[in-house]
Amino acid sequence: MDRKVVILGAQWGDEGKGKIVDLLSENFDTVVRYQGGSNAGHTVIAGGEKLILHLLPTGILHPHVKGVIAQGMVVDLEVLEKEINTLNSRGIDISERLLISDRAHLVLPYHKVLDRLFESKGGIGTTLRGIGPAYMFKVGRKGIRLSDLADEKRLTELIEENVAFVKDLCEKVFCQKFDLSPQRIGEGITRIYERIKDNITDASRILLKDRGKTLFEGAQGTMLDVDMGTYPFVTSSNSSSLGLSNGTGLSPKFFSDASIIGVAKAYTTRVGSGPFPTELEGEEGERLREMGGEYGSTTGRPRRCGWLDLISLKFASDLNHFDGLIITKLDVLDSFDEIKVCVGYEIEGQRVEHFPSSLSLMESARPIYETLKGWKSSTKGISDPSHLPAEAKEYIRFIEEFTGVPVIMLSTGPKREEYLWLREMPLTKATCL
Ligand code: IMP
Repeated sequence: MDRKVVILGAQWGDEGKGKIVDLLSENFDTVVRYQGGSNAGHTVIAGGEKLILHLLPTGILHPHVKGVIAQGMVVDLEVLEKEINTLNSRGIDISERLLISDRAHLVLPYHKVLDRLFESKGGIGTTLRGIGPAYMFKVGRKGIRLSDLADEKRLTELIEENVAFVKDLCEKVFCQKFDLSPQRIGEGITRIYERIKDNITDASRILLKDRGKTLFEGAQGTMLDVDMGTYPFVTSSNSSSLGLSNGTGLSPKFFSDASIIGVAKAYTTRVGSGPFPTELEGEEGERLREMGGEYGSTTGRPRRCGWLDLISLKFASDLNHFDGLIITKLDVLDSFDEIKVCVGYEIEGQRVEHFPSSLSLMESARPIYETLKGWKSSTKGISDPSHLPAEAKEYIRFIEEFTGVPVIMLSTGPKREEYLWLREMPLTKATCL
């Protein structure tokens, strides 16, 4: 049966999408990543082992699932090879189950050099994985696509042209030494290409033809979307639902019957710079960070932490047209006497109840809170809704009422089995999942 579910981050990334996608994938045939690259870090804890995937779709950990790296992604072949090796070393063979779009672009060593250089002058705190520069090259028509790897002559010319350009930029604009050799870059990617060339294909055509049960795995989060997020403190792809069509090469009509599910933490975090109205800088922020283990899964950076921002969550819900929300890390709030939620911003002396697009307005926004009673008991690992403390239920109800979106699932710990369904997956039957 044809079924489509989209899992999106509803905040600034790191919402716990990896665990959710891993959990749901068991009931899907295909899992697709379609934007971003190795800036993502999707963590799965299964059988007592922790695994972080940066490029491969998380669902590929299930032996029956086909994984697709679709055309909207930017692919660092070295990272891809490492991930394939890691899975192989754990006895997981994906050679027959991985499809990589021939239209996807490569992240090359000179993109990482540029990421570092741009960050050194008024940066925004990127992951330094070369993501922004790779997308710059793509849009600037200088990118190298996976389909170019089959043509050695063209590949050599493209690399030489790009390296000469980046060398000039480094040396003449940034006055930095540049010593990357085009030949070595070419040899490096050609070696990996030989290993994965049978996996490279026209992925959008296959997605259109094969259908079945398909899960689309968003990376980063809505508030980091290059168009809709807190620009310029964003990633360089459309990490909201806007990225689905161009990221997969499929018409918006293809997604008209998809269930779009947002994943949000029970509080808010962000890594890197940029507006974050509910950020807690003192002891409470530190407490959330320690209790939630809030350190970046890609870079190890401490995450900025704060209360749940319902204004941005409502913005994400409306923008993406969420059919349901999944709230993760509820258990991190277990010990708080009181829990605050942001229900408005004060901007230039006015109460504002929408998310402004202007950076300067956003930077001056002060949170207006409502305080809810904490539940002061453990929700860790609860799998039966009737065991939830009344105050936790009230917290969830408050989120549903504010956003207008039903909360369908709670995650109550990092392990695969620590979750509970509150409702059926909208538009689909829970029994199908
Ligand atoms: P870039 O995507 O590496 O260019 O980084 C741009 C911004 O997005 C920075 O603030 C990063 O911290 C943030 N970012 C990128 N990927 C992720 C992610 O997977 N989780 C959370 N933040 C991310």
